[in-house]
Amino acid sequence: MSKTVVITGGNSGIGLAIAHDLAERGATVCLACRNQDKAVQARKAIMTRTPGAKVELYDLDLASFDKIHRFVAQFAQRHDRLDALINNAGAVPMRQQFTAEGFELQFGGNYLGPFLLTHLLLPLMQVAADEGGVGRGDARIVNMSSIAHNIGRMDLDTAKGRRPYRVLPAYAQSKLGNLMFSMAMARKLPKGIVSQAMHPGGVASPLYRDLPGWQYAVMKPFLIGPERAGQLAGELALDRTRQGDTGGYFSIQHPRIISSTARDEALQEALYQQSCIWAYTQPLAARVAQRMAA
Ligand SMILES: NC(=O)c1ccc[n+]([C@@H]2O[C@H](COP(=O)([O-])OP(=O)(O)OC[C@H]3O[C@@H](n4cnc5c(N)ncnc54)[C@H](OP(=O)(O)O)[C@@H]3O)[C@@H](O)[C@H]2O)c1
Repeated sequence: MSKTVVITGGNSGIGLAIAHDLAERGATVCLACRNQDKAVQARKAIMTRTPGAKVELYDLDLASFDKIHRFVAQFAQRHDRLDALINNAGAVPMRQQFTAEGFELQFGGNYLGPFLLTHLLLPLMQVAADEGGVGRGDARIVNMSSIAHNIGRMDLDTAKGRRPYRVLPAYAQSKLGNLMFSMAMARKLPKGIVSQAMHPGGVASPLYRDLPGWQYAVMKPFLIGPERAGQLAGELALDRTRQGDTGGYFSIQHPRIISSTARDEALQEALYQQSCIWAYTQPLAARVAQRMAA
């Protein structure tokens, strides 16, 4: 049976490379994107490279809790299980912006939106995880972090805005959040669902479109194409050899250095609990307890 994978931001850059890889592995690729014109173009490109690929398009803006809920409702109308979720989408706005709920856009859209999305999709992942008996199946979450997490600080007081706004600390914090979330989830998830994180390398992509031209010119010679990141994410999501592995951090190009802040389990827990409150979602332990009692 074909595996079903949701990938956020799968219409551009690294996400599109991941979508190509997933299609080549025979998955049903669900592109969850905020720009549907680009999503249609992406589907065309995937079907051209992989004729017969199964590609579905969904509308998703991670900067709105309401839109995240609507996406999950729409997805659940078509699917009763989910094998893998790739939290790839991310943005680097040069000027301070806010999500629909008033969170600073990088914290809210790059970190908190994926936090909520993951929790809402867990019941469908649980179905894949319980295939063949409770916890005997295989469901996976892949979180796109960055080497930039190493310069990030987790300052929860900045969640609703920074004064002054500086783009790099905000980005680094959001990528630190992705990694801390991934590691916390690896401890909390029930058997059969795993959580991995990765840094895709310095990749030439539209992510850097708003950088001043001279800055991009300095970086450009060091950037690589998105293909290797696409392969690694595809492997983490679907390859048999990776089944059961959890809590890892993978990196293309660079040594896999995880900052001491990211490793701090007490801080991971504080971030996790506060994020449950912000996103109005139930902590995982309570959900699992409920499921066991049912
Ligand atoms: N490129 C690098 O060197 C690098 C290095 C480390 C980590 N990363 C991470 O890799 C991931 C992919 O980046 P990329 O380089 O492929 O950049 P990209 O080409 O700009 O792709 C980012 C994707 O995320 C989507 N997105 C952004 N905000 C969103 C939101 N609120 N809701 C839904 N979708 C949203 C974008 O949609 P739109 O097209 O509508 O903007 C786009 O599809 C990001 O998480 C980034 O932090 C990249």
